[in-house]
Amino acid sequence: MKAITIPRFGDADVLRLDEVEVPEPGPGQVSIDVAYAGANFAEILYRQGLADVPLPFVPGIEVSGRVRALGPGVEGLRVGQPVAALTIVDSGGYAEVAVTSAELVAPLDGYDLELGLAAALPSNSTTAFLVLDRVARIEPGESVLVHAAAGGLGSQLGQAARLLGAGRVVGTVGNAAKIETALGYGYDEVVLREQAAGAGRFDVVVDLVGGAARRGSLDLLAPMGRMVVLGNASGAEDVGIPANELWLTNKTVSGFNLAAFSAAFPEVAGQALRRAVAGGASGELRVGVETLRLEQAAEAHRRIESGRTTGKLVLEVG
Ligand SMILES: NC(=O)c1ccc[n+]([C@@H]2O[C@H](COP(=O)([O-])OP(=O)(O)OC[C@H]3O[C@@H](n4cnc5c(N)ncnc54)[C@H](OP(=O)(O)O)[C@@H]3O)[C@@H](O)[C@H]2O)c1
Repeated sequence: MKAITIPRFGDADVLRLDEVEVPEPGPGQVSIDVAYAGANFAEILYRQGLADVPLPFVPGIEVSGRVRALGPGVEGLRVGQPVAALTIVDSGGYAEVAVTSAELVAPLDGYDLELGLAAALPSNSTTAFLVLDRVARIEPGESVLVHAAAGGLGSQLGQAARLLGAGRVVGTVGNAAKIETALGYGYDEVVLREQAAGAGRFDVVVDLVGGAARRGSLDLLAPMGRMVVLGNASGAEDVGIPANELWLTNKTVSGFNLAAFSAAFPEVAGQALRRAVAGGASGELRVGVETLRLEQAAEAHRRIESGRTTGKLVLEVG
């Protein structure tokens, strides 16, 4: 089958269209004939060698398509069924066939949902619900600040906050051209990141940018506020969290990683995935999707790394 591989760690040019073995599902797994694969920041981190994975490696943490085969012990899914799935535990989504745990699959029967959009929901929309609900434990009426609000994850966090009953929801963006885009994703206000200090205090702050945004986020927390660290899109040096300040000011900092969470708690991740897919199908969750071909994976990576994209890029496979 055709797959995009990472033969060695490096910049986007290392990505290669290869012929590789078709993976077979093991116990509790399904294989999927992939229609679309989401393109994510996480796959760039794999490509850069942040995780110690065996090479050549097929990246790709989310797909849509049709069930191709069921592994031993799988019930409740059928061959040919349209699905969206997280392939985040072992990756492998940039391929004609991907394998994942049956628990990380969302059936699409009964939904009027295009497969291109279905591939854009598993990673970011699932993360948005889990982070706000399970990690930040948001209460109705609480205020929320999200950095990089026009991006793939940021666009889902604003809308998920709304659906979970948040009060004031504010986003930050890196340049003025993104303000209008972010305002379409559930935010009451969107400000330039350097102006966030004047935006008030928040019960929940979600940081996926890192660096100065992370240090500033701590100052933006209200008493009993929770900051959740989700990523480091800026590539900045890690920021030390001053534990004494947390103690003296009643603030909490936590982290969340969907790959590790899905490996440890596949049932909970699967529930959140199915919630995200239902939201995408009903229109409660809007995703700005742009489609490239699988062969254009390197172009997708370059665009994501530029920091200029809004919404989500998906790769058309089948
Ligand atoms: N922990 C998890 O489970 C999880 C799940 C999904 C995503 N993430 C993380 O969340 C982050 C965003 O993911 P995403 O899918 O939303 O990506 P994305 O759509 O590409 O958004 C990333 C945004 O980060 C901002 N940014 C700031 N400095 C940047 C730089 N030097 N290079 C590139 N972007 C920069 C840009 O927004 P502005 O122009 O507004 O600054 C950019 O649009 C990534 O770090 C990703 O790894 C984590």
